[in-house]
Amino acid sequence: MEALKRKIVEEGVVLGNQVLKVDSFLNHRIDPVLMDGIGDVFARLFAEDGVTVVLTIESSGIAPAVMTALKLNVPLVFARKRKSLTLRDDLYTEKAYSFTKQEENEITVSKSYIGPGDRVLVVDDFLANGQASLALARIVEQAGARVAGIGIVIEKSFQSGRQALIEAGYRVESLARIASLEDGSIRFAE
Ligand code: G4P
Ligand code: NA
Ligand code: NA
Repeated sequence: MEALKRKIVEEGVVLGNQVLKVDSFLNHRIDPVLMDGIGDVFARLFAEDGVTVVLTIESSGIAPAVMTALKLNVPLVFARKRKSLTLRDDLYTEKAYSFTKQEENEITVSKSYIGPGDRVLVVDDFLANGQASLALARIVEQAGARVAGIGIVIEKSFQSGRQALIEAGYRVESLARIASLEDGSIRFAE
């Protein structure tokens, strides 16, 4: 997606060799016109897949996911993150370990909002090691629903996430794929 890549080049800030800061349009301030375009592209990519619900995780996945849900004319559900949780039987619960943040989150979704028969499009802002997307996919499986695919705004292709999701059998569509952030410069993958 050219508009997204342009935005990354113009406004992205590389931290170390691994992290791309995009607070100016995705993670703190949000560019609604760009989100609108992102929603269009995901909706087009998954137009034939019978998506009944879009699923993301709070907080930064919500903006691209809600625009995608709008264009597909389906609801958006966002998983909630909790540090610790007393188990409740009205919630699907999965653990997601973040290598980036070195912490484990418990993520939850109400059983009221995803069920058997749903075809779920998982959307997230970043793909690093894939742990968040895999946890969301496990929640979909718990619900007896199907994963229609996984839509990622920015994939860090030098980390293991894409491979993990492909090996798990999921279709992955990333709108910008970053091959390297070495020496402070952003190189895109083809
Ligand atoms: P993974 O799901 O692919 O395994 O990713 P990981 O746990 O390592 O990522 C943890 C958090 O850090 C996620 O945000 C993720 O979006 C974010 N993240 C990972 N790499 C980058 C990066 O290079 N740049 C930016 N800007 N974010 C990155 P989160 O903790 O869920 O926070 P929130 O932003 O959704 O509130
Ligand atoms: Na994030
Ligand atoms: Na996210």
